[in-house]
Amino acid sequence: MKDAIMNFELKALDLAQAASHKGDALIVLVPNGFKAGKGALSDLIGAALKAGDLETKCGKLLSAYQPSGVACTRLVLVGCEEGKPRQVRQAVAAAVTAIKNGNCRKLVVCLALVALENAARMAVMAVADASYVYTTTKSKPEPRVLAQVTIGVSDPAVSRATFDRGVAAVCGVEFAKEWANRPANHATPSMLADAARQLAKTRSIRCEVMGPKQVAKLGMGSFLAVAQGSHEELRFIELRYDGGAKGEAPTVLIGKGISFDSGGISIKPAAEMDEMKFDMSGAASVLGVFRALAELQPAINVVGLIASCENLPDGKAVKPGDVVTSMSGQTIEILNTDAEGRLVLCDALTYAERFKPAAVVDVATLTGACVIALGAVRSGMFASSDALATALLAAGESAQDLCWRMPLDDEYGEALKTNFADVANVGGRPGGAITAAKFLQRFADKFPWAHLDIAGTAWKGGTAKGATGRPVPLLLDFLLAAVPAAAAPVAGKARARRKA
Ligand code: BES
Ligand code: MN
Ligand code: ZN
Repeated sequence: MKDAIMNFELKALDLAQAASHKGDALIVLVPNGFKAGKGALSDLIGAALKAGDLETKCGKLLSAYQPSGVACTRLVLVGCEEGKPRQVRQAVAAAVTAIKNGNCRKLVVCLALVALENAARMAVMAVADASYVYTTTKSKPEPRVLAQVTIGVSDPAVSRATFDRGVAAVCGVEFAKEWANRPANHATPSMLADAARQLAKTRSIRCEVMGPKQVAKLGMGSFLAVAQGSHEELRFIELRYDGGAKGEAPTVLIGKGISFDSGGISIKPAAEMDEMKFDMSGAASVLGVFRALAELQPAINVVGLIASCENLPDGKAVKPGDVVTSMSGQTIEILNTDAEGRLVLCDALTYAERFKPAAVVDVATLTGACVIALGAVRSGMFASSDALATALLAAGESAQDLCWRMPLDDEYGEALKTNFADVANVGGRPGGAITAAKFLQRFADKFPWAHLDIAGTAWKGGTAKGATGRPVPLLLDFLLAAVPAAAAPVAGKARARRKA
């Protein structure tokens, strides 16, 4: 895949310097309590506010063409209230969307009036998000026009680390979007494996791929059962990022990689079934995280596991009532072939034991019930460890890629009882996201474990249909929080090595 990433730069720019900066468009964020300073631009903002033609309410816009005293062709003033991370993101998104249909190649975003360390990162991510275009399967692609983005802040030294993290997150998010957006016939399990192999061309990243024979040898009877209904071969992908000390326990990320989920014999209704091409968004987010790690080269160890196959009905497909044996030895009665995500993830969880992980986080578009519970705002988060839950919640906040902790009381597990196997793959409809997590928990008792149900957050439907790249930003902040020195990878690496 071509990496059509925009070029971002961080610069010291006060309002007057932003006004004299050349470009096609200048966006200025205007918070509450604006105090007029020197220069034409400051006067203009002051006058517009006074006249009530500009409001500092988040996302409120005022645009001008070739205003005097401004070197950029277009000027967009946008309110950002108190300049909180969420508000900065919303404001920048609104402003970029407003100039999107123009011919903007060079953009300047002035954050000089916003006193927030995280603002540069929020701006970078919002610009990328609002200007993203998918092109891969178009015959006459209209690629993104925006090529050069200058983020102006009052003190670049303060913003540098989070800015760099934002740029890396954008690389990861766009990689995840690309793969999640591709139609299922352009993102088969084999193609996902090739994408992972491409990533392994970078320093510190290795990749190994297994096919049906090796997976059978490992005893992954549950994963195999899902894959057996398709002519497309399954792939089990193992990525390793070794930037930390040798022997330091890695964090394992596991992605659900169902490249298409028809439901199998328990087939889904036709309406919106196309959206089940996004059922490998968990896998795409793991790939995206590795893409970002390749950029940042932090001093940590990470393993990525992706269980990828199609879920289709066929003469050979697994049937409701079939009992299979998972790699853990537990037998599973497959009462509903549409609850396939947990069937591929359980074997990946057992496989993860071999890494003696510090923590395991699986990421999956697992249940429609999670969409009903939390909608598209927060991902569902389940954790067997309070410390892990706290870390994930904090990462969600700092990256503005939110999640919400859900319960794992043992009583929820009772729904999975059956007379014919150790466990059934579905409970009833009540608490569907939780019973799915309870199923997974049975395979995650050897390490601190968390599960992110991204069914509501990984993509948008309707006219804005497309992948969001979530939860790459959350996962990245989670991984980097474990290493305070991650912002300075070289020093961090040296320190970690000495300790070992
Ligand atoms: N991939 C789906 C979950 C899903 C559904 C994600 C809709 C996003 C939107 C998953 O494999 C599935 O089909 N889950 C079933 C489970 C049920 C049979 C217990 C569901 O949620 O309906
Ligand atoms: Mn399904
Ligand atoms: Zn699915």
